[in-house]
Amino acid sequence: MLDDKIVYVGMSADIIHPGHLNIIRRAAELGKVTVGVLTDSAIASYKRLPYMTYEQRKEIIEGLKGVDRVVPQEQLDYVPNLLKYHPDYVVHGDDWQEGVQKYVRQAVIDTLATWGGQLVEVPYTRGISSTQLNHALKNNGTTPDLRRNKLRRLLDAKPIVRLLEAHSGLTGLIVENIAIDTEKGRREFDGIWASSLTESTAKGKPDIEAVDVSARVATLNDLIEVTTKPIVYDADTGGKPEHFQYTVRTLERLGVSAAIIEDKIGLKKNSLLGNDVVQHQDSIEDFANKISAGKKAQVTNDFMIIARIESLILDKGLDDALERAKAYIDAGADGILIHSRAKTPDDIFAFCAEYKNFSRRVPLFVVPTTYNSVTEDELVEAGVDVVIYANHLIRAAYPAMVETAKSILIHQRSLEVDSMLIPIKETLELIPGCK
Ligand code: SPV
Ligand code: MG
Repeated sequence: MLDDKIVYVGMSADIIHPGHLNIIRRAAELGKVTVGVLTDSAIASYKRLPYMTYEQRKEIIEGLKGVDRVVPQEQLDYVPNLLKYHPDYVVHGDDWQEGVQKYVRQAVIDTLATWGGQLVEVPYTRGISSTQLNHALKNNGTTPDLRRNKLRRLLDAKPIVRLLEAHSGLTGLIVENIAIDTEKGRREFDGIWASSLTESTAKGKPDIEAVDVSARVATLNDLIEVTTKPIVYDADTGGKPEHFQYTVRTLERLGVSAAIIEDKIGLKKNSLLGNDVVQHQDSIEDFANKISAGKKAQVTNDFMIIARIESLILDKGLDDALERAKAYIDAGADGILIHSRAKTPDDIFAFCAEYKNFSRRVPLFVVPTTYNSVTEDELVEAGVDVVIYANHLIRAAYPAMVETAKSILIHQRSLEVDSMLIPIKETLELIPGCK
């Protein structure tokens, strides 16, 4: 081994397989090996969050033969670490010449060239890859512990966490699996919003807490059975503090990451109805007590209780919303959801501007259903941490189902509607295990 040469290897190191060992072996032939383990945020910038935390992945790589030291690589881009460690060689698999990584590779070549360093590419190990192993792991599902802490990890790793509603196993699979490839990597939903509106609607009931917690838990189990992403549960008002404590424990046991409770009292109605219906806001004191009761009940450190403020919904104004946010954070809330039913994001942005100055700040959630022109980039800029697309799958499905039903009635057969439907063959292949 050439002790005076520094060799740099960048790795996610989430699912270690012989391909990784091969790269480290080759690197060790060239000199002393520094492995840059990508941090959670570096990985989440272009693909899904790794299974293991940075600390766990670091520990594994430190234990591998041929590794001299492990350093964090904070970005997908190698350049900052190359400038810091000035390696003579970078060793990488030859499978990064296409896709998002090709620009990263070119920057490595250009940077190394400035001091005569070299990129050494090791042929890709056939028959095994992290992608294949990831598929296998997904099929195995996850555990409540692993799923529960994913929300906190995502909050640490991503500029904004993106949730989409699901109200059944099938819609859960859509949130789990639908992804697109972009210039910057894979884009997908980070987790599931277990919406009270869409679940009640799917059951043909109004969104007034008429679907009780036992029924909601049955739906959660449907979701849990077929997905691995974190779940945020819409707990409505949370009920009485004594009852909410049981809900918290149930959710925790299931591996749900967070419950959001809204500061309404009595018969709650959907927020988007605003003051068109009679609905009352809880007192700050009583709601703060409910938050503390929930926090006292929880067993793990991972579970989060998010306080949802209805002041803008009920036309109580910005100052009331801000006063409540402070009080709820003091009561132990792990996050704040500020809701609005305005057509534009102006009142949300006004809240965000003040919220940025809070001395104690917790993650901020929003639900841009009515002010849907707002972009995720604008929300990040305003300081929002989680965006919830709260009802879109059921709203997409309903008109399609109604049109289908009408077409059959009109034509007294189903031929005319066929082109709007998923072919039966694909229907049978939609769910793994049908064949
Ligand atoms: C839900 O999805 O059930 C919500 C959000 O609570 S909203 O419908 O806007 O009240
Ligand atoms: Mg709701």
